[in-house]
Amino acid sequence: MFASLKPRVLELLQDDSKTVDDRLQGVCDILLAQVPHYDWVGFYFNNGDQRELKLGPYAGAPTDHTIIPFGKGICGQVALSNKNFVVPDVQAQDNYIACSLTVKAEIVVPLFVKGENIGQIDIDSNTPDPFTGEDERFLETINAKVAEILEG
Ligand code: SME
Repeated sequence: MFASLKPRVLELLQDDSKTVDDRLQGVCDILLAQVPHYDWVGFYFNNGDQRELKLGPYAGAPTDHTIIPFGKGICGQVALSNKNFVVPDVQAQDNYIACSLTVKAEIVVPLFVKGENIGQIDIDSNTPDPFTGEDERFLETINAKVAEILEG
């Protein structure tokens, strides 16, 4: 699945006839539509120097959590740790911000521009323990491409 999806996503990101936000929206839409265990897909970016994340393009149900302070929830922890965070069971996490009661698992992969963690891709799944190293490698590849675009 990821092998066939990857070239489509990278091609979409390369389309400089579209704005960066439109391309990121396209990535969210295609991931939500094509990956059965992805039920919400979004990008969060650092909100200036306010030590909080701000929701960018996303696909799936609207969320109240458009601003997340660094350190809070899975996303806020990744803003500080600079590491992928794979959560097989969200109920087992103390520091978790629930977006929807149907969500069982979450993966967050940070996005680095010139070595600096400037945001992340966040995926929620309604399937318990669905994520593998393949998801991590796939999302890292997407984020590396997004970083290339943002670096200009
Ligand atoms: N669950 C996230 C909050 C963002 S929503 O999943 C869209 C967290 O704990 O950081």
